[in-house]
Amino acid sequence: MQASLPQIDLERWRRRVRAARLLRPTGQVVRVIGLTVEARGIAARIGEICDIHVPGEAPVVAEVVGFREDVTLLMPLGELRGIYPGCSVVPRGRGLMVAVGDHLLGRVLDGLGRPMDGRELSSPDQSYVPVDSSPPSPLSRQRIAQVFSTGVRAIDAFLTCGRGQRLGIFAGSGVGKSTLLGMVARYSSADVNVIALVGERGREVRDFIEGDLGPGGLARSVVVAATSDRPALVRVKAAFLASAIAEYFRDRGKDVLLLMDSVTRFAMAQREVGLAIGEPPATRGYTPSVFALLPRLLERSGMGAVGSITAFYTVLVEGDDLNEPITDAVRGILDGHIVLTRELAARNHYPAIDVLQSVSRVMPELVSAEHLARASRLRDLLAAYRQAEDLINIGAYVAGSNPRVDAAVRVYPDLMRFLRQDMHEHSSFEEAVKALPDPG
Ligand SMILES: Nc1ncnc2c1ncn2[C@@H]1O[C@H](COP(=O)(O)OP(=O)(O)O)[C@@H](O)[C@H]1O
Ligand SMILES: [Mg+2]
Repeated sequence: MQASLPQIDLERWRRRVRAARLLRPTGQVVRVIGLTVEARGIAARIGEICDIHVPGEAPVVAEVVGFREDVTLLMPLGELRGIYPGCSVVPRGRGLMVAVGDHLLGRVLDGLGRPMDGRELSSPDQSYVPVDSSPPSPLSRQRIAQVFSTGVRAIDAFLTCGRGQRLGIFAGSGVGKSTLLGMVARYSSADVNVIALVGERGREVRDFIEGDLGPGGLARSVVVAATSDRPALVRVKAAFLASAIAEYFRDRGKDVLLLMDSVTRFAMAQREVGLAIGEPPATRGYTPSVFALLPRLLERSGMGAVGSITAFYTVLVEGDDLNEPITDAVRGILDGHIVLTRELAARNHYPAIDVLQSVSRVMPELVSAEHLARASRLRDLLAAYRQAEDLINIGAYVAGSNPRVDAAVRVYPDLMRFLRQDMHEHSSFEEAVKALPDPG
């Protein structure tokens, strides 16, 4: 009788052995200029992680960011302490990875995926995924077909989002971006939130987690934070790391909400990296790699073959300049934008969403004909009110002189009451649609 042997796919192993780089030459640090380390003697590709060994200390982890003549340019993912010419450089043969699993829920990670709360972070069923990966192919993505309830009336009624839609939130500083993101994180219909805080001050991170998100919001969230004092490359990585975690949950069929605050600070961090390795500054000091990286980041969210990542990316708009290059680039990539204005915030109108300047490109495909008609009629009346506002305010508008303005004046108080929402008030999509004022 013949013993049945377990089937081993020898060919698969042969292929792996052939593809493996078994010899990894060790190199040496030759120079350090600012934050770039130049090494000679290694054969590593862009994005590969290397350990720089400093005798008597933990190795400095660095990433390959470029090449110049015969040297490899590395940037540290931590402090550049103790490095000197001659330190050995050992490539790891792979890029940055992150351990993913349900154990991430409720936790706060740094830009490299390490826990920031001091408690241990691991789980027997965790798996590793690369931080950098390509967006899904457009043809493998499902279409956006279902409403994503944000819990914020102004958005649900006038800027209805779909599951898997990607939107930008454009605003100056202090206009209420973090508060709005916190509301969406607490009230939306998502299964899991992944929140990336990139380039914020340390205090803002704490305020967001404890104030805007709260314990209830944190329980179904994973927060990735790289504050402004972290190395530029770590701030860039934080954005990709959060995307990788969101993809992990999406690929397991979950409806994920990815919130990123802010893409502007991500772009600034990449500009720092680019300038340090000698890229030429192009538009307003931003280097070409910034504009190459933005779509690589923003296209990773959206629908997958299963599951979805609905994403909100905040963009800082200084001096209300909506034509600033990052604003412009981001707006071109995403499927909609929500504009918050200082005028509304100054009138204590929160959330300070300017409905007339904002748009959700997929709304017409998601909502009923009645809902769409009512929302666009109300928009139209709001525009009429804004045009006549100065006259109305000084009492110079004569009732009856323009039927459109008359209707606008009638509905205006109800509409303002509808659009304003306390940050502790939750309103479902259905409630928002039902509460839309009657334009008459
Ligand atoms: N929905 C809101 N209700 C009441 N006040 C708000 C609201 N949103 C923002 N604010 C006020 O605006 C301030 C700045 O908001 P924040 O979300 O931190 O702005 P940003 O993140 O854009 O800098 C808050 O401290 C708060 O006083
Ligand atoms: Mg903020």
